[in-house]
Amino acid sequence: LIALMASSSLQPIQGMSDISAPDVALWQFLESTARRVLRDYAYTELRTPVVERTELFQRSLGDATDVVQKEMYSFEDRGGRHLSLRPEGTAGAMRYVAAQGQDAQDARLFYIGPMFRSERPQAGRRRQFHQLGVECISTPSAAVDAETIALQAHLLRAWGLTDYRIEINTRGEPEDAARVAAGLREAVASFRSELCEDCQRRFDANPLRMLDCKQPRCRELLADVAPVTTWMSAEARRCLDDVVTFLEGLEIPVDVNPRLVRGLDYYMHTVWEVTHTGLGAQDALSGGGRYRLTIGGRDVEGVGFAMGLERVIAALQAVGAVPADLGERPDVWLVAHGEAAFAHQFRLMQSFRQRGIACGMDLQGRSVKAQMKAANRSGATWVVIRGDDEIEQGVFQLKHMEEGTQQALELPALMDTVKQTAQQRAARHHLG
Ligand code: HAM
Repeated sequence: LIALMASSSLQPIQGMSDISAPDVALWQFLESTARRVLRDYAYTELRTPVVERTELFQRSLGDATDVVQKEMYSFEDRGGRHLSLRPEGTAGAMRYVAAQGQDAQDARLFYIGPMFRSERPQAGRRRQFHQLGVECISTPSAAVDAETIALQAHLLRAWGLTDYRIEINTRGEPEDAARVAAGLREAVASFRSELCEDCQRRFDANPLRMLDCKQPRCRELLADVAPVTTWMSAEARRCLDDVVTFLEGLEIPVDVNPRLVRGLDYYMHTVWEVTHTGLGAQDALSGGGRYRLTIGGRDVEGVGFAMGLERVIAALQAVGAVPADLGERPDVWLVAHGEAAFAHQFRLMQSFRQRGIACGMDLQGRSVKAQMKAANRSGATWVVIRGDDEIEQGVFQLKHMEEGTQQALELPALMDTVKQTAQQRAARHHLG
């Protein structure tokens, strides 16, 4: 059947990828490192469905946003329900939090999983990508915002990334929004007709988004517009200053960028984005901010961020910071000389594995020469060789592959030696 299929039908959908060995070891490293750090910040994992009601995203991200307007994978199921693959994780997490009511007060949740946006595939833009996101349920607090940004910086450092830049701004209180919109319209009115078509539309629908336009001409025209904080309450400005001051106290440098607006409607107060010099045009590693949402008649407030894991990996690769030994090699490879030895080694393999020793052997009955080749290829630290002579003497030949040394050992000594290697590997792995 496979031979009859065109080779293109063997590939995943454009903009989506299979993730397999050896690359998957890097994904596991990112995830295990993150889980350890997140535990220290008192976060617990939340796994929500990949499919939600389309309405949830329209209401929370905003009907007029690019993600909802152009990028969602939406469909009608057999029962006529309007559903979408999640384009991001905050909406589903907030649906969960709203359903918990009072029980979710002060919840600290993280998620790791696939998100879907039908963007035009290009470097850094995937149709299925993976986010690690955190959501901290809390009423507005500069300290919580600063703590969340500090967590973000901690994760990046734990993964080995240092050349990143955190840009921060505020969206103000919801009551500020009307004044900001009016102020921006007034500032732009005289050259409105020179802006791109999208910005002409944004002028009426959501003037803030004009500041986010990627068109060089629009950027030039908007360069002299006053910072959005000009039209905000003193309280909103103070809140941003407090976040920056808390972060200074933690020695986490941030740049205030008065043009940073973020593309989703649920934000208020602090917003930020993290970029990396190793990435190309799509240089955002992460984005986040404080938000307020109403879901099913319940208000939910919090602060959070999500990092694109494909972009974290691209940044690690760009600066050559991918850890070299991710512990994928077996501790031991077993080589059997003859049928009796094969049966012994087969049992030994199982008992090694039950003791946490990563172990392999050739099960196809190949020659000793071919088995040694396989041992080499596996990258195992040790090889255990056994034939009729060793069975008779009750010993095992233990060879250290890198050093080339060999010794005959009885079972207890053999176990001790390889167990040590396994423990060292596990320790390296868990340190991440
Ligand atoms: P976002 O800025 O839309 O925010 O996405 C966060 C990150 O996901 C981006 O910075 C980027 O690294 C990655 N990303 C987004 N789209 C793609 C894509 N097509 N291909 C590859 N990577 C991508 C959110 O999703 C918010 N939910 C973040 C948040 C959580 N705010 C508060 N809590």
